[in-house]
Amino acid sequence: EIMSDIFDLKDLEEQIKKSLGLVEVIVVPGDSDEAPWVKKEMGRVTVQLMKRHLADEASKIVALTGGTTIAAVAEMMTPDSEMKETLFVPARGGLGEQVENQANTICATMATKAMGSYRLLHVPDQLSQDSYSSLMEEPKVKEILNLIRSANLVIHGIGEAKTMAERRGSSEEILQNLNEKQAVAEAFGYYFNKDGDIIHRVLTIGLQLEDVSNSKLVVAVAGGASKAQAISAYMKQGTSNVLITDEGAAKALLQLH
Ligand code: G3H
Repeated sequence: EIMSDIFDLKDLEEQIKKSLGLVEVIVVPGDSDEAPWVKKEMGRVTVQLMKRHLADEASKIVALTGGTTIAAVAEMMTPDSEMKETLFVPARGGLGEQVENQANTICATMATKAMGSYRLLHVPDQLSQDSYSSLMEEPKVKEILNLIRSANLVIHGIGEAKTMAERRGSSEEILQNLNEKQAVAEAFGYYFNKDGDIIHRVLTIGLQLEDVSNSKLVVAVAGGASKAQAISAYMKQGTSNVLITDEGAAKALLQLH
């Protein structure tokens, strides 16, 4: 019984890897829409993958996004030799999330659990074009932006567009725009339609999508059957090379393809 379950998951991983064109896919049992421990299990395997990858890297810089899934990765972090040398940085500035879902918070938690170090990015939400431009000129901001851009590992969540826009208290105008353009996915503060086209992005400093694709390893962590459409859409623009997901999302994903 147990052996055939493991075999089923391996089979799901192979099928998704092929259909989304990824380097690696890991599927954990269960559905995180239904059981909270499934998110923690995705967190646990993400930590394992991070350690495996960082062991071979001379410089160890990890950029993280916010969200409840990456918060679960932080929760499952444990110290060891690779992690003590690791520098954690938030991938981008404020996106309108509550404190516990912000990249800065998760970054500090993860670094503390790993006994590594961290640098934060203090950027207010809803930047105007003017303040964006002047912030970019600040020497301290430039310094951390350079660190963020040199990250060799990026760990990020993927969200369902409407859920994310509402959670972040986006304006009526933005909500309407996302609705009109049929946004289905969100990652890094970018919103995508089902073909993976960018239809909106939150103006903030840090990694832009084109920087993300230059990173060595980009790992998406997202589960729950309700995110299948979002995962499929986001993966069409092809920035990430690894997906860590759960059985619920994996099965729903294969039905879409
Ligand atoms: O940044 C947020 C993610 O894209 C999704 O958030 O992990 O809470 O679903 P979540």
